[in-house]
Amino acid sequence: MARVFITGSADGLGRMAAQLLGEQGHTVVLHARSKERAKEARAAMPTAETVVIGDLSSIRQTLHVAEQVNALAGFDAVIHNAGVGYKHPQRIATEDGLPREFAVNTLAPYILTALIHRPKRLIYLSSGLHQGGDPSLKDLAWEHRPWRGTQAYSDSKLHDVLLAFAVARRWPAVLSNAVEPGWVATKMGGPAATDDLDSGHRTQVWLAVGEDPAAKVTGEYFYHMRPRKPHPATRDVETQERLLEACEGFTGIELA
Ligand SMILES: NC(=O)c1ccc[n+]([C@@H]2O[C@H](COP(=O)([O-])OP(=O)(O)OC[C@H]3O[C@@H](n4cnc5c(N)ncnc54)[C@H](OP(=O)(O)O)[C@@H]3O)[C@@H](O)[C@H]2O)c1
Repeated sequence: MARVFITGSADGLGRMAAQLLGEQGHTVVLHARSKERAKEARAAMPTAETVVIGDLSSIRQTLHVAEQVNALAGFDAVIHNAGVGYKHPQRIATEDGLPREFAVNTLAPYILTALIHRPKRLIYLSSGLHQGGDPSLKDLAWEHRPWRGTQAYSDSKLHDVLLAFAVARRWPAVLSNAVEPGWVATKMGGPAATDDLDSGHRTQVWLAVGEDPAAKVTGEYFYHMRPRKPHPATRDVETQERLLEACEGFTGIELA
């Protein structure tokens, strides 16, 4: 049985993945942004080992999340699931002065990847919208562009695939993949979502613990347990490296 850490598991696909892993007999460590949300996450899944707390929009709190995870014994898999949505009408600045989408969706998984002791498998939640992301990686903090919430989200989801593939290339002993869960009716997806909610969390669980050879691959992008073609720029090593350099620049943390 495996031990899995899931970011953003107080709600939505993270919580669904946690519950499915628990039903399968795996050990799950949850994560929530605050003590209050941690209580709610715990109430939804009393069998979880514990709940790690920290707001991933804050670099300082994200560092503390990594410390809490490393204080627990090693993990077989980490699912980088926490994310913020795709149509905020304004640039909401975090305590670090960064747009929330970039902080939570890009920098937090980067920081946690760099600092958490390497698990055997890493899964990054991306989105079909990553196909519209900007591979130039210009103005990552949205200081010069007029704000466009959907573009900021799409950019961040492109970053998640770049990060997954960069890690797959740099750390050959770790299986690192990205997932597109489909447009599903969570808090983020909203009630109009058209994809099957029950399929939205299964691929990340399969990649985290599955013994199927098709799940034990690295550097792939999946939709509903099948490989899907990601944006071609995600395969470009120079673009991957530029993203890592930029994330190091924003955080001072190296992904060694
Ligand atoms: N739903 C879709 O249609 C869809 C489509 C493509 C990709 N995805 C991706 O799938 C992942 C999960 O999305 P979802 O649909 O399950 O969304 P959701 O229902 O809104 O859940 C997101 C989770 O992330 C947590 N989170 C957000 N900001 C955080 C922060 N600053 N610090 C700590 N935790 C934070 C949320 O905590 P709270 O509950 O406390 O807010 C929640 O637990 C995301 O990465 C998303 O981009 C979703």
